[in-house]
Amino acid sequence: MNRARAKRLVIGLIAVLAVIQFIPASRTNPPVTASRSLEAHIQVPPDVQQVLKRSCYDCHSSATVWPWYAHVAPVSWYLAHDVNTGRRHINFQDWEAQINPQEGKEHLGLICKLVRNGQMPPADYRFMHKGTDLSATEVSAVCAWSQTFASGEDTDKKPD
Ligand code: HEC
Repeated sequence: MNRARAKRLVIGLIAVLAVIQFIPASRTNPPVTASRSLEAHIQVPPDVQQVLKRSCYDCHSSATVWPWYAHVAPVSWYLAHDVNTGRRHINFQDWEAQINPQEGKEHLGLICKLVRNGQMPPADYRFMHKGTDLSATEVSAVCAWSQTFASGEDTDKKPD
């Protein structure tokens, strides 16, 4: 590729990046109603609550802390989509949005397995947010709590 062509390509790329900044991401922090939160419905031990707030709230609450790169397209689209999907599955600050209490309990029962397998928080999130990894003690505390909601296959205590 000659220099002139390379230059045109770079300029073109910059132009595209500039233009896509005008396409907004659906980045919201909906208002929080305390009476709709998980703690208003279910007992959450303080050590578990602390883990949820630190490692899960960015995607499973209405109080997401959006990093600077969440304002830069196309990353912003990806992150907004991830957070909206996370909230749709489970929003600890809007527990009443769960389809029904049974589904809510199933989600709580699943948490142990997800944190133990390292599926939640997702690896890319943990990489970008230092200190959101769960320690072994935290996994045990979360599991002891989560398993009180689990039934059937989710009561499996072995890592899988
Ligand atoms: C970076 C965003 C993000 C973080 C942080 C995060 N999650 Fe998730 N979570 C998601 C997304 C997105 C989904 C939807 C399922 C999927 O696409 O993998 C999900 C799904 C779930 C589900 C539902 C799974 C199902 O099968 O229905 C549970 C339970 C869950 N997460 C728990 C947690 C817990 C507990 C934490 C913290 C320890 C956490 N998540 C942290 C994004 C996140």
